[in-house]
Amino acid sequence: MKILVTGGAGYIGSITVRTLLSKGYDVTVLDNLSQGHKETIITDFVEVDLREKALLFEKLKNKKFDAVIHFAASALAGESMEKPYFYFHNNILGGLNLLEFMKEEKIPHIVFSSTCALYGTPEKLPVNEKESKKPESVYGESKLAFENILKWYGQIYNIKYTNLRYFNASGAPLDGKLGEDHNPETHLIPMAIKAAKENQPFKLFGDDYKTPDGTCIRDYIHVLDLAEAHVLALEKLKNGGQSDSFNLGTGKGYSNKEVINMVKKISGVDFPITIEKRRPGDPAIIYADNSKAKQELGFNPIHSDLETIVKTAWEWHKSN
Ligand SMILES: NC(=O)c1ccc[n+]([C@@H]2O[C@H](COP(=O)([O-])OP(=O)(O)OC[C@H]3O[C@@H](n4cnc5c(N)ncnc54)[C@H](O)[C@@H]3O)[C@@H](O)[C@H]2O)c1
Repeated sequence: MKILVTGGAGYIGSITVRTLLSKGYDVTVLDNLSQGHKETIITDFVEVDLREKALLFEKLKNKKFDAVIHFAASALAGESMEKPYFYFHNNILGGLNLLEFMKEEKIPHIVFSSTCALYGTPEKLPVNEKESKKPESVYGESKLAFENILKWYGQIYNIKYTNLRYFNASGAPLDGKLGEDHNPETHLIPMAIKAAKENQPFKLFGDDYKTPDGTCIRDYIHVLDLAEAHVLALEKLKNGGQSDSFNLGTGKGYSNKEVINMVKKISGVDFPITIEKRRPGDPAIIYADNSKAKQELGFNPIHSDLETIVKTAWEWHKSN
């Protein structure tokens, strides 16, 4: 089975590519290397920007893909509020060109990297897929827009899709060869690891939330568990599965303080913490109801306990 992986040079994409190759899939990576890392690519590679429609069609035509996994996007909620045009343009136009290519080449299946950011502040916990969609960032809105576009392309051109709504992707493969390397980095675990490596103060945004220790609670999912879920989603579509959306989280939340304490424990560095003002658009608590993914995809997050997540992330960051 021949799979096109957009954004396959990025954090989650490069690790999912390894999983796909280990299971015998034929994989082509597409990336513009704006955030991705060329040295992580170990398979057929097409360097192109999804926003360049003519070039995209020219470089990919007649490759005869059976399915697409679409990771490529700009993915930082905070940054999206400073660069709304850039985020809407990249995430919506890029995705739209990809769908036009799929229509042209009659590629029947797509797995899309969606996000829990489209739920905003949830009304009910744990959050299930039926929760109302009210993103609180341009980033979340751009992902919701693409989910809606997919729905119409599905209806009009019979493209079958799976929206995988990830919670907080984290951790690294157990061999320490790949890991999380965003620029700028705004995710909690890599930021806390940086504070540990440099023994510098860590900025904690808000400790007055209505949670047991006053800090935000999030659901962390190990990147290897995410990678496996993409294979499950592909297989389901290949076996006649209908278009659908799934939450990918563990169903358990950890507070920012719990995560920071785990980084301190694993690194052995008691770095200082400074309390900053809350960031706008940060819900106090969000964690997934993952029962639909478990029942219908066979999703089984085996690497996603906090200690394994932080340990594997620490191992990678120590040597990179
Ligand atoms: N990291 C998370 O916690 C998280 C959570 C929810 C959803 N997601 C989604 O998962 C996907 C992957 O996230 P990540 O953390 O690996 O991000 P990443 O930035 O590491 O990877 C994205 C990749 O897409 C490429 N790219 C961006 N725009 C492109 C374009 N126009 N044309 C071609 N390539 C382009 C980048 O160069 C990069 O390699 C994103 O769609 C993101 O929105 C991530």
